[in-house]
Amino acid sequence: MARVLLDGYVPDASRPSAVGRAAVPSVSPVFSVTRGVSVVPDSALKSRSATPRTSYPDPDPDAVLDLAGVTVTRSGNDLLHEIDWQVREDERWVVLGPNGAGKTTLLSVAAARLHPTRGRVAILGEQLGKVDVFELRPRIGLSSASLAERIPADETVADVVVTAAYAVVGRFTEQYDGLDADRGRSLLAQFGVEHLAPRLYGTLSEGERKRVQIARALMTDPEVLMLDEPAAGLDLGGREDLVHRLSVLASDPASPALVLVTHHVEEIPPGITHALLLRQGKVVAAGPLDEALTAQTLSSTFGLALRLDRVDGRYAARAL
Ligand SMILES: Nc1ncnc2c1ncn2[C@@H]1O[C@H](COP(=O)(O)OP(=O)(O)O)[C@@H](O)[C@H]1O
Ligand SMILES: [Mg+2]
Repeated sequence: MARVLLDGYVPDASRPSAVGRAAVPSVSPVFSVTRGVSVVPDSALKSRSATPRTSYPDPDPDAVLDLAGVTVTRSGNDLLHEIDWQVREDERWVVLGPNGAGKTTLLSVAAARLHPTRGRVAILGEQLGKVDVFELRPRIGLSSASLAERIPADETVADVVVTAAYAVVGRFTEQYDGLDADRGRSLLAQFGVEHLAPRLYGTLSEGERKRVQIARALMTDPEVLMLDEPAAGLDLGGREDLVHRLSVLASDPASPALVLVTHHVEEIPPGITHALLLRQGKVVAAGPLDEALTAQTLSSTFGLALRLDRVDGRYAARAL
């Protein structure tokens, strides 16, 4: 079941339903359940926030990610506020939200790059604070703008991918073995950039770089893959190619669990199973894609009235 916390814009329930748009449940002043979606009004959200939890349930040992009450505070502001989130092995999540909603902060916590100010974080059955993060990180494939910035321009594409096996950016003096080189080549092939292996990373187009970054994130055969805005800055052809390749990845049962961050519903690849919608550091809705991502929840998340359409497994949104 999806959790839906309404905190902001609520579209007019009396409006005729747009094509492909779920009927808008009305918001009652008390907790209500409409079509399997729990709706909590703003007042309830605020009262829940007043008393932060100090104890948390034991993490689910089978969950890939299990976050409870996660709060990240900087300069007196909560970038994330009391986030509860569970991701299982066979799930593929999209995290949606406007700029500044806290998506990258959430991914940094989930990828063992950032400790929360409060709350409990379990990643692959290991609890942050009780585990050596340097042993945990190779089990998590992460691709983000901040990691990409650290890739040296004068590194060959083959090295950019293979050096991930050593959890370093920039080629070390270690001689990586043939098996690693083969795996690197096959990952580049999976993303259609095998021919770029001898090229210097700095000479690649933005679209080519993105694909190399994802191949790199997969190099350690991670148990969960996290991609922060993988299609940002791509042209239409580049975006469509990437969405297709991510769809193939997401639809393969042998793939690791996936968490993909974006602020465009057009970038959600078919094969995504779950959605978490974030606004001002708070969860607006989370759960199975069809229940969590509706015109209503998207409108609340972005703070404007939106129409949401779904055609052939792809989403499109525009202002009403
Ligand atoms: N170290 C920090 N100190 C204060 N504010 C921060 C810090 N890092 C990020 N922020 C702010 O936190 C908010 C959430 O940032 P971020 O997680 O990057 O959002 P998103 O990825 O959804 O765009 C933004 O308003 C950002 O300016
Ligand atoms: Mg971000």
